[in-house]
Amino acid sequence: MTMDQNLINSFFSVPDESGCFGKFGGRFVSETLMPLILDLEEEYNRAKDDESFWNQMDYLWKHYVGRPSPLYFAERLTDYLGGARIYFKRDELNHTGAHKINNVLGQILLAMRMGKTRIIAETGAGQHGVATATVCARFGLPCIVYMGTHDVERQAPNVFRMKLLGAEVVPVTSGRGTLKDAMNDALRDWVTNVNNTFYCIGTVAGPHPYPAMVRDFQSIIGKETKSQMMEMEGRLPDTLIAAIGGGSNAMGLFHPFLDDRSVDIIGVEAGGKGVDETMQHCASLTGGRPGVLHGNRTYLLQDLDGQILEGFSISAGLDYPGIGPEHSWLHETGRASYVSITDEEALQAFQVCCEQEGIIPALEPCHALAHVMKITGDLPKDHIICMNMCGRGDKDIFTVARALGIEMASSD
Ligand SMILES: Cc1ncc(COP(=O)(O)O)c(C=O)c1O
Repeated sequence: MTMDQNLINSFFSVPDESGCFGKFGGRFVSETLMPLILDLEEEYNRAKDDESFWNQMDYLWKHYVGRPSPLYFAERLTDYLGGARIYFKRDELNHTGAHKINNVLGQILLAMRMGKTRIIAETGAGQHGVATATVCARFGLPCIVYMGTHDVERQAPNVFRMKLLGAEVVPVTSGRGTLKDAMNDALRDWVTNVNNTFYCIGTVAGPHPYPAMVRDFQSIIGKETKSQMMEMEGRLPDTLIAAIGGGSNAMGLFHPFLDDRSVDIIGVEAGGKGVDETMQHCASLTGGRPGVLHGNRTYLLQDLDGQILEGFSISAGLDYPGIGPEHSWLHETGRASYVSITDEEALQAFQVCCEQEGIIPALEPCHALAHVMKITGDLPKDHIICMNMCGRGDKDIFTVARALGIEMASSD
């Protein structure tokens, strides 16, 4: 049931002390992991109030990542669609090609503050794995990345990049060999190596404090967008749109705007082959119900017995049967709305973006773009839409070629 968002004083009041966003979130972990989670929470709370921590983050964001990322008026696309003014927040221009590094920097600095000497991560599209391998190389830390075998195959360029950066990539064969399975194995590693190991989670999922901590690190996206939009348009955008795998780039864009009630917020899930027609999708909010996975309570794709279903999406980064708990809460409060976009619609958006804007996008933000394309024409010309271009498409060209039936070597 949708709650009335007017009953909520501030959307910044979550999570509570136990890490809950309303009835979502929390920490459902084994006894072995509990002391680690508590240590991490303590260290994060200390770092949050430590100016030197944020100075270090600001320095690295600026000089290593290349922040602030530009806010770009997509003029040709706006003309082409003939409606609202479309802006892209260009997080695909970050070092390593996606938003993932914003959060990885924060977590690796925390790991070093905690004296951890071994970093593990899970990855789907490989962007979080590449970001983690990159920052580990930068600080001389060993890095182990768990990745499902299906993703190893479809995101081969990123597997090679991680190896070049000195990381060990561990292929995970269980399930469908996607992000859920990689996260299961990373959690197993963490339980086994609790003393020296830091688990660098790539999205706003996992047990508390991860969802809030990752959101806080990614909120740089929304903070920059707010001030850039004021500079360029003299006002806030009317609509924010972002794609959702676990939900970190979306939470990063949305969070600083949550109390600005005039701003309409839309998250876009992966509709795969169709949410109504098939079970082959990853739309956890549209097609799932609440349950517990990877240490938190949230909306999940599951069968009648509560067994987690395998998701499906052309985009490896969105191929996760859950969603960060804060999104579940925003969905239930009605503060944000969630829609889904099919593989086919995302592929169309991919081609339009290449041709109209000279930007080759990752398949993940193509889902957000496809929704922009769906609604823009019906909106007035002074309406402002801002979408997060959260990743670049180099990693996806093979998948796109296959899906479009194009021979890569062909000159057509
Ligand atoms: C480019 C890109 N966008 C989006 C995502 C989805 O993650 P999230 O929902 O946490 O932003 C991924 C995940 O790998 C990604 O690589």
